[in-house]
Amino acid sequence: NEQSHANDPTVRILLVGEREVGKTSMIYSLVFEEFDEEVPAKFEEITIPAEVTPVNIPTVIVDYSAQEQSEKELYEELRRASVICIVYAIDNEMTIDKISTYWLPLIHQNLGENHNVPVILVGNKSDLVEYSSIDTVLPLMNQYKEIEICVECSAKNLDNLSEIFYYAQKTVLYPVTPIYYPEERD
Ligand code: GTP
Repeated sequence: NEQSHANDPTVRILLVGEREVGKTSMIYSLVFEEFDEEVPAKFEEITIPAEVTPVNIPTVIVDYSAQEQSEKELYEELRRASVICIVYAIDNEMTIDKISTYWLPLIHQNLGENHNVPVILVGNKSDLVEYSSIDTVLPLMNQYKEIEICVECSAKNLDNLSEIFYYAQKTVLYPVTPIYYPEERD
């Protein structure tokens, strides 16, 4: 696979997160429009042709599996990504804690503190709980300016999945650049 060129408009969406949060299931359900209990450890890299994306830009979706990939491969994928989805399982507090204790610091280590790769926090398995996790993860947005949006989905119910991949494309194509108001006085 060719590394994308600087002027290549391909959007590269990378899914990372703790084991078993449902990264592969999310991609599987998006692609096949049905949930399967038996998914491989890692989904092969897939390219969605421009014509079938709402933003008309070819989009590559990249799965990450700690089981099958080395840390070095993870670091390479972090550097190649146009947008990074940190996936957690809403019903598993440990996977939420790891967003701030492992994943966000790891992204800083690899891309620098002031990188401009947008990050999306994705809470999967919304079908298993009656509550929302958004209030729990939202404060991270104040600490990490690269977090563009926090969303929940269910790979099992196909709930909010296509929307999440659409948000991911949009954050790359239409970045929300911070507006600074310099404290100027006459
Ligand atoms: P690793 O390959 O270990 O990194 O895991 P992963 O993040 O790719 O998770 P995977 O897709 O293999 O899913 C882990 C388990 O959670 C499987 O048993 C899935 O069937 C289940 N699962 C995934 N998504 C959902 C969901 O939305 N709801 C429910 N109830 N279960 C889910």
